[in-house]
Amino acid sequence: MTEVEVVTGYDALAEVYEWLISDPKLAPAEFAASFDDVLNLLPPNAHVLDCSCGTGQLAVGLAGLGMRVVATDASEAMVRRTAELSGEFGASVRTMRADWEELPDHLDDDTFDMVCCVGNSLHHAVGASGRVAALEPMSRLLRSGGRLVLTSRTWELVRSRGSRLDIGDRLVRRNGRDAIVVYRWEIAPLWEQEHHIEIAVAQVDAAGSVLVRSELLSCWPYRYEELEVELHRVGLRTEMSTFNPEAENYLVVASKV
Ligand SMILES: C[S@@+](CC[C@H](N)C(=O)[O-])C[C@H]1O[C@@H](n2cnc3c(N)ncnc32)[C@H](O)[C@@H]1O
Repeated sequence: MTEVEVVTGYDALAEVYEWLISDPKLAPAEFAASFDDVLNLLPPNAHVLDCSCGTGQLAVGLAGLGMRVVATDASEAMVRRTAELSGEFGASVRTMRADWEELPDHLDDDTFDMVCCVGNSLHHAVGASGRVAALEPMSRLLRSGGRLVLTSRTWELVRSRGSRLDIGDRLVRRNGRDAIVVYRWEIAPLWEQEHHIEIAVAQVDAAGSVLVRSELLSCWPYRYEELEVELHRVGLRTEMSTFNPEAENYLVVASKV
């Protein structure tokens, strides 16, 4: 019998990830420019790590600005897409598959000017202890004064809405193909419990048939105050934050003490 490889989670979503990225994040230069306020603080040729690089738009955008970029992700398929994007743009990005906790096995301590963990990635760390275990290596790799740049969903807002279905109200066109994106949020009774997000991308092909890719992802939400405490625990001091309980997402910049 031939073995069929089952691709799950982000390895599967990597195949349809362009439909999940918002228009402003699709172009590497534009994605990088959305962090201009922080990038302006960096030295020329800054050494940066994107430790949940996804399909690589931010990493490639940063390399386009002349930075020395390392891009890592837990998903092999995501890392492959980052390497492909990098090739398309003629960018020099070092790519590597690594979970957050594995980063110190591959990279030197105290070397990066900036570590990025953006686009709702940290909630995949398993609970408070998992978050600290993920943040610890990010902090360790930063040089003194280096900065962690983190973006997050506002879970206070997400949880207040409860379990629900978000169905895209328009077709999203990528590479000449249209798809509808559906998010199903499974909100557990307690903050500490495992939550789920089911993401479905339904592509409509030229012949009119519908191809659906659907994945169930686990996540562990956190309150902003908890994140602040955890950042401090790993030796980072919050330098800037856009947290607003009414806004969908926020940015935190924390520097290594
Ligand atoms: C929502 S995507 C964000 C990707 C990208 N940063 C963006 O903004 O488009 C979350 C990413 O985190 C990665 N990820 C999840 N758990 C991880 C872990 N333990 N270590 C490293 N990366 C992880 C996933 O593989 C995925 O690429």
